[in-house]
Amino acid sequence: MVEATLELTVERRARIIVGAGSIARLPRLVAGLDPHRVAAVVDGNVPWSLVDAVRDGLESEGIPVSVLRVRGGEGAKTLESVERMWRFMAEEGVTRQSLLLAVGGGALLDAAGFAAATYMRGIMLGYVPTTTLAQADAAVGGKTAIDLGWAKNLVGVFYHPDLVVIDPLLLRGLPSGAYMPGFAEVVKHAAIKGGWWLSWLESRAEGIKSRDPRILDEVVRFSVSVKLEVIKRDYAERGYRAVLNFGHTLGHAVEAASGFRVSHGYAVSMGLAAESLLAVEVAGLPPDEASAVEGVLKALGLPTQVPLTPERLLEAMRLDKKFTRGKPRIPLPRRLGDFTIVELDWGVVKSWLSRVTRT
Ligand SMILES: NC(=O)c1ccc[n+]([C@@H]2O[C@H](COP(=O)([O-])OP(=O)(O)OC[C@H]3O[C@@H](n4cnc5c(N)ncnc54)[C@H](O)[C@@H]3O)[C@@H](O)[C@H]2O)c1
Ligand SMILES: [Zn+2]
Repeated sequence: MVEATLELTVERRARIIVGAGSIARLPRLVAGLDPHRVAAVVDGNVPWSLVDAVRDGLESEGIPVSVLRVRGGEGAKTLESVERMWRFMAEEGVTRQSLLLAVGGGALLDAAGFAAATYMRGIMLGYVPTTTLAQADAAVGGKTAIDLGWAKNLVGVFYHPDLVVIDPLLLRGLPSGAYMPGFAEVVKHAAIKGGWWLSWLESRAEGIKSRDPRILDEVVRFSVSVKLEVIKRDYAERGYRAVLNFGHTLGHAVEAASGFRVSHGYAVSMGLAAESLLAVEVAGLPPDEASAVEGVLKALGLPTQVPLTPERLLEAMRLDKKFTRGKPRIPLPRRLGDFTIVELDWGVVKSWLSRVTRT
């Protein structure tokens, strides 16, 4: 018999650059990783002007670039789309010394990250997030995934990008549907950090709505720093990282029950409002703190009412991969900034859903 123990450590380092105008630094930063070539996988809705700027910048550093445009949105997170990326890389001569550069929304990043993690057992990876949600949340944390039919994020791996360049100025030209939903994740990060931060965010609501570049820079930096803090505290997702799921139990149910017609960010917004009310009942959250969460969501113009029946939501929750073998366990605030995991009876879930839905 042979017995052995391997000490496994995570050696990949993610360099994350956040700041207005940081896209100009992308070519030098990529060159610093010394890739033989770059396969750029770009969200189909990203304007050509950005694609051309990225390509020209990399080529001026002497790096050969091939570009694949992929349909953006949740449809990017399919095996077919990942297969397109794998085939593209094989045809373009991408090797282990190459880098996949994903440019786009959170869905595109999740799928391209999975393609990079699995192609030749893992190649270098860079992210240029272009939606608010991707900048404020999805580009950081190393989770990659694709959906399996209705089962969101069912297949994926942890794989940290080598480089993430987050330029909040890219958000200014976005259509509203790519701009607004991501602020729900920023509200979530403020709630994780504490009540003072919710007020801080609310005081910036007008600047966010008018797309003030200084405010966008500040808010995206804040959001990324909170997510990084949480991940550093719980790299392996053993417990604390669960706070990042605040608003997501109901949020995922809303996404699924709406057939993904409600976007992730808007679903999370509804989830944050509804789960704050639940927290008052089962976790002792002071009612004024639940109102503060709802208040900032409303100030930002984010949805707080759930436009689905309790029956459909309950059905979606029962199909949630996290709960199929038992009762839902969900992170809820005892106070803003102080979370606990609460196990819920299905009866409690049912009566809660009937109170927070309006159809
Ligand atoms: N990996 C993670 O940790 C993590 C965290 C949060 C969310 N997510 C995932 O992120 C996804 C949601 O991300 P999202 O809100 O960015 O949605 P998305 O990726 O679907 O993008 C929203 C829309 O914006 C478009 N778009 C992207 N860039 C654009 C540009 N420059 N100009 C115009 N349109 C543009 C996209 O094509 C899409 O139609 C979900 O699949 C969610 O599960 C992942
Ligand atoms: Zn989310």
